[in-house]
Amino acid sequence: MSGEAPPRSIAVGISGASGALYAVRTLASLLERELHVELVVSDYGRRLLRDELGEQATVEGLLPFLIQKYGAGAGRGTLKLHSNRDLGASIASGSHRCAGMVIVPCSMKTLAGIAHGLSRNLMERAADVMLKERRRLVLVPRESPMSLTQLRNMVLCAEAGATLLPAMPAFYQRPKTLDDLADFMAGKILSALGFEHDLYPEWTGRVGG
Ligand SMILES: Cc1cc2nc3c(=O)[nH]c(=O)nc-3n(C[C@H](O)[C@H](O)[C@H](O)COP(=O)(O)O)c2cc1C
Repeated sequence: MSGEAPPRSIAVGISGASGALYAVRTLASLLERELHVELVVSDYGRRLLRDELGEQATVEGLLPFLIQKYGAGAGRGTLKLHSNRDLGASIASGSHRCAGMVIVPCSMKTLAGIAHGLSRNLMERAADVMLKERRRLVLVPRESPMSLTQLRNMVLCAEAGATLLPAMPAFYQRPKTLDDLADFMAGKILSALGFEHDLYPEWTGRVGG
C-alpha cells in the first residue's frame, strides 16, 4: 500500500442487492480505523439488511449491531446516516471533503444509474461526485447471471474511473464460515480504498503458507 496519509472520511452506500454481510463487515472495518463514515442506504438496502441479517439489523440501530457483532472497535469511528432522498446532503457536493466511496452491495439498478450519470438519489449523486472529482469509487455488484446491459454498465463505470469489485469471494484462504468470506470481500474493498488491513492472509505462493 502507498505511504500517503489515509483519508479520514469515506462514504458507504448499501443498495438492494444480496450481500448485506459484506456491507456490515466493511462498515465495521472502516469504523475500527477511526474513520468518519457517511452512510446512505436505499429502501431495498434497508430491506436486505433485515432479510439477510435479522430483525436487529436496522439502519438506525446499525452501530450497536456492529459493536455487538464485531466488538467495541467498531465504536472507534463515527457514523453519519443520510436519507437517500436528501440530494442536499454533504456528500452530494464535490466541495465536501470525502476521500472515497464504496457501494456494497451494488444492485444492477444503482449500477445502471451510476453508469448513466442519473443522480436520481443521494447514493447515485454521491457516486457521480466521486467520479467527477476523480476520487476513489468502489462498486461491489452482485447479480448472476448478468445481461449484456449489466455488463456494459459495468464497463461504463470502469471507463469513468470506478473500481468494479464484484462480490466474488475466493476460497484459496480456506474459509470455514460465512464471516470468513465476508472478511475476504471487506479486505478487498479496504485495499481498493487505500487502506491496509489483515482481513485475509497475504498470498505467499502456496495455500496455507
Ligand atoms: C430479496 C431480494 C434480493 C435481491 N437481490 C438482488 C441482487 O442480488 N442483485 C440485484 O441487482 N438486485 C437484487 N434485488 C433487486 C433490487 O433490490 C431492486 O432492483 C431494487 O429496485 C434496487 O434498488 P436500489 O438500487 O435503489 O437499492 C433483490 C431484491 C430482493 C427483494
